[in-house]
Amino acid sequence: MRRELLSLLVCPGCEGSFELQVDRADGAEILEGALACQPCRSIFRITRGIPRILPDTLNQGKDATSDAFGYEWSHYSELADTDKKEFLGWMSPLTPSDFEDRVVLDAGCGKGRHSLLSAQFGARTVVGIDLSVAVEAAYRNTRHLDNVHIVQADILNLPFKRPFDLVYSVGVVHHLPSPADGFSSLVKHVKPGGRISVWV
Ligand SMILES: C[S@@+](CC[C@H](N)C(=O)[O-])C[C@H]1O[C@@H](n2cnc3c(N)ncnc32)[C@H](O)[C@@H]1O
Ligand SMILES: [Zn+2]
Repeated sequence: MRRELLSLLVCPGCEGSFELQVDRADGAEILEGALACQPCRSIFRITRGIPRILPDTLNQGKDATSDAFGYEWSHYSELADTDKKEFLGWMSPLTPSDFEDRVVLDAGCGKGRHSLLSAQFGARTVVGIDLSVAVEAAYRNTRHLDNVHIVQADILNLPFKRPFDLVYSVGVVHHLPSPADGFSSLVKHVKPGGRISVWV
């Protein structure tokens, strides 16, 4: 994680701001450390470069879904040439110009293939979140880009206020125990006048 991400993050429990503790860094990249919420005193670890901002308890259904996908992504983490065409099909009627200079959330980012494309389309900042170990692949695939941040987090307990011009989610919401709750949660993080695109 890089320090710039801090300005977007809040505690998912109380919306308090975090104090960053750095235990180990590689240049601007914070590899090990913690995010400490001042108001409620929750502490979330940063391990292997990824902030892990997960609620204490996750229900069974969510665990099973993210575990299954996490297995898949950590074993099949290559990116394919066909990803761009496929992504644009799923995002239609949005086009690459709708990403330009935008602050973007990729909700349920898997191995980060669309976070990477969003950056290539000119997004100012991209945040990819995923509940599962897929974040390890997403981090590997995007670490070279200063404006892409990967966070292990839950769509239903997002650690942000409303910083996003564009929120999208591809192939995720229909797997949640309550797709409606997932959609409502995502909408709450879109800036007034911003856009949301959900493919199911
Ligand atoms: C079919 S994959 C799609 C991944 C990515 N959007 C793509 O198209 O490459 C679904 C992803 O949703 C993630 N996921 C499932 N439940 C989630 C939740 N509650 N919060 C965040 N991510 C979740 C899974 O871990 C998995 O990586
Ligand atoms: Zn808090």
